[in-house]
Amino acid sequence: MTIRTAPTLPDGVEWTAVVVAAHRAAESLSDRPAFRDPLAEAVVRHLGLAAPGRPPNFGSMPGEMAGTTALMGDLVVVRTLHIDQALTDAGLDQVVLLGAGLDGRAYRMPWTGRRIFELELPAGLALKDEAARAAGLKPIAGRTPVPADLAGDWPTDLFAAGFDPSRPTAWVAEGLTVYLTRAEADLLMSRVRGLSAPGSRLHIEIAQPIGERLTHDTATDDGMHRLVSVLRYGPPTPPHDWIAGHGWSPDALTLAELGNSYGRKVNDTWDPARGGIDLWYFDSGLLPARPA
Ligand SMILES: C[S@@+](CC[C@H](N)C(=O)[O-])C[C@H]1O[C@@H](n2cnc3c(N)ncnc32)[C@H](O)[C@@H]1O
Repeated sequence: MTIRTAPTLPDGVEWTAVVVAAHRAAESLSDRPAFRDPLAEAVVRHLGLAAPGRPPNFGSMPGEMAGTTALMGDLVVVRTLHIDQALTDAGLDQVVLLGAGLDGRAYRMPWTGRRIFELELPAGLALKDEAARAAGLKPIAGRTPVPADLAGDWPTDLFAAGFDPSRPTAWVAEGLTVYLTRAEADLLMSRVRGLSAPGSRLHIEIAQPIGERLTHDTATDDGMHRLVSVLRYGPPTPPHDWIAGHGWSPDALTLAELGNSYGRKVNDTWDPARGGIDLWYFDSGLLPARPA
């Protein structure tokens, strides 16, 4: 008889990082993967969400995962490809992942010489370290974990970890802003702008109007209730003026546009043309400072 140990999924908002890591693992372990993600593979194995070498089965995932993983469709794969490309094209050697979760870029991108700061709640980083250790994974790029709450005084922690504000930075907020309040998102953007040397870039995902579509009334299972309970909705709709108001060029593509360009199907939930939620991906440079 095989005794299966129950997966130890995180309790708080860090749980959402497992949902997206499961998608990257599924892609990584598919027959024709668009990318490989050894860290995501290690996470699903570590948590008992998939058998070794097998992709997670979204239809029967334990731990309240099935509904939310089905909701995502190809969202995570498309945004991963897009942000990988944007970071590679920008070529900046100081990268800050805001709400890094189980992002595996430090383990999978050929970025020797880049410094990748991973700002994330302590429990999220602990899970990542456990999974990497269990799989014997070592980062390729200069990974610097920074355990911190983005609603707190994270710049102090980032400086202590060796962040250099005189160098241009690539900031990444991928799958983050829906979990922040509007005030937290505003504060985050002000601080990011203040720490950005000329030449910095901002890669940020904004989903709206998510609060009207994903609610406890529309939730179909416990996982969806769990997702709804950690949503805080973040930036305003549409977000372009908000981005510009925080000093960044409002250049964005939608997930539906990116899905077409990568030949991946975006499900109805994320396609406003079919009644879904707008998802924008901003690849922004700094706007000239406004006269005081
Ligand atoms: C959906 S996950 C995305 C993770 C990662 N960016 C990715 O795309 O794989 C959202 C992440 O934001 C983190 N997060 C949410 N609120 C946060 C906060 N106040 N401080 C630090 N991290 C936070 C969560 O813990 C979680 O890991």
